[in-house]
Amino acid sequence: MPTAVITGASKGIGRAIALRLAPAYDIVALARTEEALRSLGAEIAGKGGRCTAIDVDLRDPSAIATALDGVHADVLVNNAGIMHRKAFIDLAPDDWAEMMDVNVHAIYHVTRALLPGMIAKGAGHIVNISSIAGRNTFLGGSGYCATKHAVQALSECLMLEVREYGVKVSVVMPGSVATELTPGGSKVEWALRADDVAESVAHVLSMPPHALTFMVEVRASLPRK
Ligand SMILES: NC(=O)c1ccc[n+]([C@@H]2O[C@H](COP(=O)([O-])OP(=O)(O)OC[C@H]3O[C@@H](n4cnc5c(N)ncnc54)[C@H](OP(=O)(O)O)[C@@H]3O)[C@@H](O)[C@H]2O)c1
Repeated sequence: MPTAVITGASKGIGRAIALRLAPAYDIVALARTEEALRSLGAEIAGKGGRCTAIDVDLRDPSAIATALDGVHADVLVNNAGIMHRKAFIDLAPDDWAEMMDVNVHAIYHVTRALLPGMIAKGAGHIVNISSIAGRNTFLGGSGYCATKHAVQALSECLMLEVREYGVKVSVVMPGSVATELTPGGSKVEWALRADDVAESVAHVLSMPPHALTFMVEVRASLPRK
């Protein structure tokens, strides 16, 4: 069975991706909340799958290197992300640093740990979860949108670099998803569901070896109420 490493798999979109991919992949699930990872592992095991939980703070590069030492990934989904939606003037240095660390720097460190194994094998697929905030902006989004614009550029450059080694890179850009990313966000009725984003990831991974879907924008289709 191939292995899929998924960051931010303890809840929300990452958890949905882990459950969606579990029938076809051994899952390696990364996040900080041990209990939630245990519950994900139990749910996957209950359906006959396999899930290895790794509790790690993605703000800590050396912890990432230790956690992923010896792990081979056929698929890597860089999903973990946070948002501090605040006017720039209210965005504290810690808010800024946390968004940069989790949304951007962690992608660098996790990918650096797993990409050499993919290149050596001549196969692999990295899916970065960006956002429509990766090409749009909104009030209070100076930090968050900056991180997602960075994810877009990083993803495209990496895609151009590594496809000749048999490694694909894709970026999935959801609109609003009903999760805990924003206060009250999980209750927004018109929003996408985490499962919808998981389906987009599965779709991107399902392309034949000679074809790469690089960028997918997935939006809610119900009218906002
Ligand atoms: N929800 C939306 O409307 C929306 C729209 C577009 C894009 N996205 C993107 O989708 C991705 C997932 O977001 P979500 O909505 O599913 O958010 P969520 O429900 O808040 O989940 C965020 C995940 O990231 C993990 N995480 C956060 N900080 C971490 C850290 N320091 N170390 C390790 N893991 C950390 C969390 O795990 P722990 O807390 O257990 O560590 C959790 O598993 C993000 O990249 C987000 O930007 C979301």
